Amino acid sequence: MSEIRPRPVILDTDPGIDDAVAILMLLGAEEIDLQAITVVGGNVGLRNTLRNALSLVELAGRTDVPVYAGAKNPLLTRLVTAEDIHGAGGLGNLELPVPVTNPTEGDVAEVIYRRAQEAPGELTLIAIGPLTNIARAFLAHPDLPGLLKELIIMGGSVGAGNMTLAAEFNIYVDPEAARIVFGSGVKLTMVPLDVCNSHTLKMKDIEAIEAVGTDCAKAVGKLLRYSHNVSTRLGRDGCPVYDAVTAACLLRREIFELKDCAIDLETRGRLTRGRTVVDWYGVSGDQPNCAVAVDFEIEGYRDRLIESLSRLR
Ligand code: RIB
Ligand code: CA
Repeated sequence: MSEIRPRPVILDTDPGIDDAVAILMLLGAEEIDLQAITVVGGNVGLRNTLRNALSLVELAGRTDVPVYAGAKNPLLTRLVTAEDIHGAGGLGNLELPVPVTNPTEGDVAEVIYRRAQEAPGELTLIAIGPLTNIARAFLAHPDLPGLLKELIIMGGSVGAGNMTLAAEFNIYVDPEAARIVFGSGVKLTMVPLDVCNSHTLKMKDIEAIEAVGTDCAKAVGKLLRYSHNVSTRLGRDGCPVYDAVTAACLLRREIFELKDCAIDLETRGRLTRGRTVVDWYGVSGDQPNCAVAVDFEIEGYRDRLIESLSRLR
């Protein structure tokens, strides 16, 4: 019987607490071939997001996965960060050893393009930070969107924002990049704030994750407890691990419900900059350019995370 070849994937990320959970979830996923982790400034500055990504692949024993430094700042503006949510270093109160490995030299746009050319129609990009690196790759290579199997992003919202009333953080940081990506013709799936907030991990789930007992599981437990405390302080119920939900959408799409929508990006307006304008009822007459995640099974997501962590050390 023919072996199913692991699916080629590149992750673009701004670790970040929920990014870290997603990174470990993907590093422990045997069904994918994680060809590269590309890093962007976002939750914290690039120096810290890069260090965190290197520390996480070392924690997981997966230094076979190359880590590349991408954009320090958004396309047109200065970086806005979120230390209030992720802590000064980006990983809450999780202290990981200073990485002993270095980032791999290479331009992120060229790395993504080269990998896409190697297997036309097979490479999946998953982007869980601001979309600066992705937009730069699409600007440098206009044929790249058509070479990809798909792009899955954590970003945007159908309802309220979390950075402003209108805008979700990843989109708000670089709305110009987001507009390029949403208008590129790439096969796009958006995992927005709304669906991630609809099912959150509770303390019993965090305890089940910690019970895996591996170093990675204990690290995830510490990250989730920190994030759970932040959520409680903000009056929210449980732990919406946005980027890990997005990783689950890559690994277990069957537990997600998706709705095809036409989406455009607002890049202007005192109140609206960074808004994903979702044509929920099809009133624009525009063709849908994005599948929006509207629901998922929390148990399936939690179990998939535990499965990945059980495979790591
Ligand atoms: O709004 C949530 C998103 O912004 C997540 O990806 C989080 O890590 C931050 O990057
Ligand atoms: Ca992120």
